[in-house]
Amino acid sequence: MSISSNIDRAARYIQQGKVVAFPTETVYGLGANAFNPMAVAKIFEIKERPSFDPLIIHIASIHQLDRLVLNADERVYKLAEKFWPGPLTMVLPKSNMVPDIVTSGLSTVGIRMPSHKIALELIHKSDCPIAAPSANKFGQISPTTAAHVKKQLPDVDYIINGGKTTVGIESTIIKLTDDGFQILRPGIITSKDLEEIIPFDDASKKEKEVAPGMQKSHYSPRKKLLIADKSSLNIDKSKAGLISFSGELENGYRKVIKVSERNDLKDYAVNMFEALHSFEDDNDIEIIIAEPVCERGIGKAIMDRLRKAAFNWKTK
Ligand code: TXA
Ligand code: MG
Repeated sequence: MSISSNIDRAARYIQQGKVVAFPTETVYGLGANAFNPMAVAKIFEIKERPSFDPLIIHIASIHQLDRLVLNADERVYKLAEKFWPGPLTMVLPKSNMVPDIVTSGLSTVGIRMPSHKIALELIHKSDCPIAAPSANKFGQISPTTAAHVKKQLPDVDYIINGGKTTVGIESTIIKLTDDGFQILRPGIITSKDLEEIIPFDDASKKEKEVAPGMQKSHYSPRKKLLIADKSSLNIDKSKAGLISFSGELENGYRKVIKVSERNDLKDYAVNMFEALHSFEDDNDIEIIIAEPVCERGIGKAIMDRLRKAAFNWKTK
C-alpha cells in the first residue's frame, strides 16, 4: 500500500475514535482525536500512563489554535512563526473545548505543530487536532522507528511506518510567563534559539517549574544503564555496550555504537534512543554505558534524557 493510502486509513481510524501510531520529526506519537475523551482514554490505557500526566495536542494549521487555547498573545504567534512546524511545544491556557482527560485537569494545554509530512497530512485528513504522547510504554525508551513502537505496543490499532525520525528526541516544552519563557523540557530548540524571539524568564528567582510528567526515571531500558564516569570503568566490558560520542572510550567494549561520525550533538540526539533500543534487544549485552556530553545547548537535552534513563539503575 502507498504511504498516502496508509495515511487515509489511519485518518479514518482517528475519526472512528481509534488510536494510531505515527511518525513525527522528534519521536513516534500515539494519537487520538483530541476532542474525543473516550479515544484519548485508550492512549492512557495502551501506554499504561498515569492519568496525572497530560498529553500534547498536535495541530497542522495555526487556525486550529483558536479552539484550543484562550487569549493567545502576540508572543505565541511570533514563536509559532519562527519555530512551527517544528519541535517546540507551548504550554498555554486551555479553552473549554479541550477535554480534561487530555490535560489531566490542568488549566493549561501543551500544543505543537510537528514538521513531519506524514504527521501534518494525518492531522489534515483526520480533520481534528490529535492528542499524542510518545508511542512507548510509560517510563520506557522513546520510539524513533515503527519497529520500536511495535516492540512495546503490539496492540495499537495501526502504525504508520515513516522510517526513522530525523530529530530523535522529544520537543522542547516551554511555558510563557509575564517575564518571558521558561523551559519545562529541554530539546533541540535551545534557550539561545528562543531568546531571539522572547526573553528567558530566570526561574531561579522563583520556584523551578517542570512538566507534571517529568519524573526522575524515564526513557529507561530493560537492562542496566550507566553514564560513563570513573566508577563505571570497573565494569566487565566484555558484556557491555558503549554508546560512544567522542570515540575516546571505545577500548575493550563488547560492542560500540558511535552516535556521530562528525562530533555533532544533533547526531547524538538523532541516534540515542535507537542505540538504547538496540542494546536492550541484544542478548550479548548485559550492561549499557553511555558517554556523557557537556551540558550546553543541545547537550542539556541529551543529558536530561540520559540521566533519567539511568536513574533507576544507579543503585542496582
Ligand atoms: O516531541 C514530542 O513532544 C513528542 C511527539 C510525539 O510530539 N511527544 C511527547 O509527548 O514527547 P509525551 O507525552 O511523551 O511528553 C509530553 C510531556 C509530558 O511530560 C507532560 O507532562 C508534558 O509534556 N505536558 C503536557 N501538557 C502539559 C501541560 N499542560 N503543562 C505542563 N506540562 C505538560
Ligand atoms: Mg514520552
